[in-house]
Amino acid sequence: MYKIAVIPGDGTGPEQVREGLKVLEAARDRYGLKLETVSYDLGGERYLRTGEILPDSVLEELKSFDAILLGAIGHPDVKPGILEKGLLLRLRFELDLYINLRPVKLYPGVETPLKNKGPQDIDFVVVRENTEGLYAGTGGIFKKGTPQEVAIQESINTRFGVERCVRYAFDYCRNKRKGRKVTLCGKTNVLTYAFDLWERTFQAVGAEYPEIEKDYAHVDAICMWMVKNPEWFDVIVTDNMFGDIITDLGAIIQGGMGIAAGGNIHPGRVSMFEPIGGSAPKYTGRNVINPLAAIEATAMLLDYLGEEEAAAAIQRAVATVCAKHLRSLNAGEMGYGTDAVGDLVVRYL
Ligand code: IPM
Ligand code: MN
Repeated sequence: MYKIAVIPGDGTGPEQVREGLKVLEAARDRYGLKLETVSYDLGGERYLRTGEILPDSVLEELKSFDAILLGAIGHPDVKPGILEKGLLLRLRFELDLYINLRPVKLYPGVETPLKNKGPQDIDFVVVRENTEGLYAGTGGIFKKGTPQEVAIQESINTRFGVERCVRYAFDYCRNKRKGRKVTLCGKTNVLTYAFDLWERTFQAVGAEYPEIEKDYAHVDAICMWMVKNPEWFDVIVTDNMFGDIITDLGAIIQGGMGIAAGGNIHPGRVSMFEPIGGSAPKYTGRNVINPLAAIEATAMLLDYLGEEEAAAAIQRAVATVCAKHLRSLNAGEMGYGTDAVGDLVVRYL
């Protein structure tokens, strides 16, 4: 029996999650899975109502689940940073979800802004470190509000944190991909401390995977190559900040936020899966948001739980819906409502 916590969250999050659960339940029936879901009311609405973002008791409860499905967080009436830090980042840190896994895969029939590139060219994953780097929140402001003020924001990179991330990337490449290549994305020419550690760790860990090609590219160059030669990539491993940035680029070349999903993972422990786009508040309640990212997130969740067959079947169904039905992956331009897209995926599943 899999125990799955559901955090629908803000804006269009609940509409997306509803379709994700619809597909999850269909997969359950089709593949004879046993699962139990418990929904948690967390996000901007609750914060505005009660002042609570993530009560410690809820955090403790979440640790007893196998996985979490998150819709989206972000509320127009809540100052930027409060929910991000108090909910999303706190969950990543406190549950020690040290991997942010973001597949970049273009399905047939989906439009990419890249000229002359197709599904055979755009198929890689980014393994983003998810608990350290610039996101660690260390630093501070000195003499705030004065002309002498100083702001310091530090990037924390530990050997332990970097090593487990790099190892995950190589293992993922070997076990879940074809074992072709792992590319380290860094900035060794400027960030000569942080990426010195990354580079040495990458070489040391990489030596244990002799069959896998090791490659390195600076983050700025990666942005260029992801547009010009996305087919070069198989697995890209990088730090938290660079991973955040390059995965938005990744999302757009695979068809946009309507389909981009990610997993916040700690192997063997409760892990959290989400559409990587935001809460898109302007589309709330209009049945126009694309639920495929949330549906892809449920596929990643099942894959994480070891239900690889069910996960792959959901992904095939999504690909079919993209190829045969949707006019576009953008909200309001799909040619179908949010609920109808979920129904279509269930039909092909
Ligand atoms: C993401 C988001 C978050 C991040 C924000 C909402 C804090 O952009 O998941 O990529 O920066 O990690
Ligand atoms: Mn981001």
